[in-house]
Amino acid sequence: MGVMTLPGPGAPVRVPDGVPRTAGYVPGVARLGIPAQIATDASLGITNPLQSRPGDIATAMPSGLALASSFDPVLAERVGITLGREARGKGFNVLLGGGVNLTRDPRNGRNFEYLGEDPLLAGTLAGYSIRGTQAQGVVSTIKHFVLNAQETQRQTANAVIDADALRESDLLAFEIGIEIGQPGAVMCAYNRVNGPSACGNGELLDRTLKQDWNFKGWVMSDWGAVGGADFILRGLDQQAGSQLDQKPWFGPELKMLVDKGQVPRARVSDAARRIIRSLFAVGAEQASKMGPVDYAEGARVALDAARKGIVLLKNNGVLPIGAGARKILVVGGRADFGVLSGGGSSQVTPSTGAPYFEEWGGDGIAAKFNRHMFLPSSPLAALREALPDRTVTFDGGYSAGAAAAKAAQADLVVVFATKWETETADSPSLGLPQGQDQLIAAIAHANPHTVVVLETGNPVTMPWLGSVGGVVAAWYPGQEGGQAIAEVLAGQTNPSGRLPITFPQSIDQLPRPEIPGLLDPAMTPVDVPYPEGSDVGYRLYAKQGITPLFPFGFGLSYSSFSYSTPQFTRGLKLRISFTVTNTGAVGGGDVPQVYLINRNKEPLRRLIGFQRVELEKGATKAVTIEVDPRFLADFRNGKWTVPAGRYSFAVGRSALDLDAPVAVNLVQRQLAP
Ligand code: BGC
Repeated sequence: MGVMTLPGPGAPVRVPDGVPRTAGYVPGVARLGIPAQIATDASLGITNPLQSRPGDIATAMPSGLALASSFDPVLAERVGITLGREARGKGFNVLLGGGVNLTRDPRNGRNFEYLGEDPLLAGTLAGYSIRGTQAQGVVSTIKHFVLNAQETQRQTANAVIDADALRESDLLAFEIGIEIGQPGAVMCAYNRVNGPSACGNGELLDRTLKQDWNFKGWVMSDWGAVGGADFILRGLDQQAGSQLDQKPWFGPELKMLVDKGQVPRARVSDAARRIIRSLFAVGAEQASKMGPVDYAEGARVALDAARKGIVLLKNNGVLPIGAGARKILVVGGRADFGVLSGGGSSQVTPSTGAPYFEEWGGDGIAAKFNRHMFLPSSPLAALREALPDRTVTFDGGYSAGAAAAKAAQADLVVVFATKWETETADSPSLGLPQGQDQLIAAIAHANPHTVVVLETGNPVTMPWLGSVGGVVAAWYPGQEGGQAIAEVLAGQTNPSGRLPITFPQSIDQLPRPEIPGLLDPAMTPVDVPYPEGSDVGYRLYAKQGITPLFPFGFGLSYSSFSYSTPQFTRGLKLRISFTVTNTGAVGGGDVPQVYLINRNKEPLRRLIGFQRVELEKGATKAVTIEVDPRFLADFRNGKWTVPAGRYSFAVGRSALDLDAPVAVNLVQRQLAP
């Protein structure tokens, strides 16, 4: 059973000297050589919750959505390695990372921690990140299993979904992540799934995870997600953060059930064996490799991730900033200080200096987590450095009229728009808060050479889109974000990010325009129906013929790329090969994507492969995509079936911008679950 060693809710726990204040601690058994688990949150860097370890800093990585925008498994692995190294250096041996919940609602307050809406992309990147972490001798979780797709009523919501569709979507992301990363632990989610709690769900934990997938690690609960000691009978192996549960179930309560014969000893042994096996499999013996942390290396990885995660959404020629833009006005978003980060258990105290907090209230312990934290990485300062021969001035953006008047005098305006998101809450809307839409509209009216830089944890609507010259989605770009943004604006970095998540035109395009339970008091039981099944995100838009604001996979470059006609090689796995050529005037990165668009005359839209490439101008590279047959298949009656017939594929620049399709006949195939 795990406890939090933080000041806060529940009875204070006594822990041995040297155990840091952190989210998770499970004592070891020295007599048997079993290491303690010393766990830290680390979705985006090693956290220091409530600054309870004074002065302890870490590399604050860009958000998960930024990482996903890179479409780069190698980068994900480097991020994972950095997290693992820093965890090790600080004495942690379990990392509570690997968030891979698919985006089913672009207002989910935790989307920024996750990797977007596609199971192949999210599962692959999560897997590589976990692999990198565990190679450092630190167990990583993959979380939150499964369908914690909204924060609203997260402890009482019941996700209602067709079981097969779940296998083809959210569970498939986990399955791929587990295959690639072999995480030591799976963290089960707060919510219910088709009735039972995710952490007491035999169908999910026992049948799917442990039997079908042969998962060898252990299942740990989310913090406050356990409803009884009997959850162990349905696959839960460890209660974590037990102060947040009604009872420390996996203590005396569990012992009582064992003594009464209601829980077989063998099940408890199995749970313990899974934990010990995984700690040793990864080499997580406590404290063996503690040492200094290389923050300079962390910063290099964070900068690379920020550069590759920035998505250029619109450019009518204003970017990169040209020689004619002598007077540049920067507005808003605290760009004079830094970049925004998201709130909740993933928030990192950066290694680069003191952050700036805007107080936003809330009650009790939540108040501290609800502060808007800006990381000290000023895009304004970086832009001045990148363009030393220009005059770059700043306006805080508090008065639309005053900012617009200054904008009219400038050659170019860059408006920074921020939207804070946090764990435990969803955004009630897709709009920018605090009148920023009006601010942008006023500025763009005064000066059409306006570029909007978005620092958001989710898609936003853009009522001003038609009147601005450029839009850059920087997400929460991490502690080196200001530098990366300035490089993209000035043209020193060619933007190469692609959207891992669809930007809707409005909430009316969503499968659930109203977030279930949003207006109810906390802890109201509420059903969240997912009738879209496995048609998550762009798949549903394609099925319904709806055009979003920006599609999944979309992102502009300062260059252009062309693809040759794909060729097929049939074998155990279908291979699709083509070449990519940089047809533009500058070098840059591209992410060709391959979609299944038709199967036996049934239109579909499934990403079945992608490959990030870096190309100098004029250069050509050969790409081969090996197709995971599960993306050609349906999950029915307990197995995957690839139906015989004709399959059409297209290479594209997004889920909507596809080259001419090519078709191939495939024979029927069945795959084990
Ligand atoms: C979050 C988890 C996190 C845990 C420990 C929970 O509230 O959902 O992601 O790992 O807290 O801090």
